[in-house]
Amino acid sequence: MSQAPEVTAFFDEASNTFSYVVKDPESAACAVIDSVLDLDYAAGRIAFDGADEIIAHIRDKGLELQWLIETHVHADHLSAAPYIQDALGGQVMTSEKIIEVQETFGKVFNEGTEFQRDGSQFDRLLKDGDEYSIGQLRAFALLTPGHTPACMTHVIGNSAFVGDTLFMPDGGSARADFPGGDAGVLYDSIMRVLSLEDETRLFMCHDYGPGGREVQYQTTVREERENNIHVGQGVSREAFVKMREDRDKTLSMPKLIIPSLQVNMRAGDVPRDKDGNMVLKVPVNKL
Ligand SMILES: [Fe+2]
Repeated sequence: MSQAPEVTAFFDEASNTFSYVVKDPESAACAVIDSVLDLDYAAGRIAFDGADEIIAHIRDKGLELQWLIETHVHADHLSAAPYIQDALGGQVMTSEKIIEVQETFGKVFNEGTEFQRDGSQFDRLLKDGDEYSIGQLRAFALLTPGHTPACMTHVIGNSAFVGDTLFMPDGGSARADFPGGDAGVLYDSIMRVLSLEDETRLFMCHDYGPGGREVQYQTTVREERENNIHVGQGVSREAFVKMREDRDKTLSMPKLIIPSLQVNMRAGDVPRDKDGNMVLKVPVNKL
């Protein structure tokens, strides 16, 4: 029987994102998954309220932060990983496929040679199946691309943190139309997640409260397999791809995609101009 991590969820209302502190039940070791930095884009102002809440939780409980995990390069919010790392230590990790994302968006944002496209902004790059531990808790990363090429699902004990692959059963699946996204590949990745044991707890990165219900963040493989509105009850790859592509054509870009990509492809660091000021670009007609 695999171990059950102690999971605390934090919700960012502005982007409907869940961040998690995942704790080893046998020790003080923990990981933070997908933290969020607050950005008032209109004012060009960043703040740290959400990240400070996570830092306070870790300090209050006397936990030791080992890993700051980014399930993917998010397009709807900025990562707070470097801010939390400055406060508490730990290592930032993501998929080695980050290099593909850096290549794609290095071009979109016309980055100079000072922007390294080798993933070196992160402390650890994971391959499909790579194992790690959080104290005594065993964990591994599953490559689950489709939403982006660098998406990973983190299986920690009896729980899986699915990033943007699946949503809650009534929310369906993540979009697959960003540069490097692919609906068929997303379907294959979702099938990988749904091949985990039935009772595996699944933790979402997002929930938008469909139909006006309260937001939720946790379900199981069995629930998704039976009830997911996009893939449940054995929906075929072909039917999924058609549904996903038709639906994605109707979606507008996330409000914060332009700042998010620039920051998150740098492991959460805000780019700087030659004088050291934090600045974000808005490339025109490039996305
Ligand atoms: Fe995402």
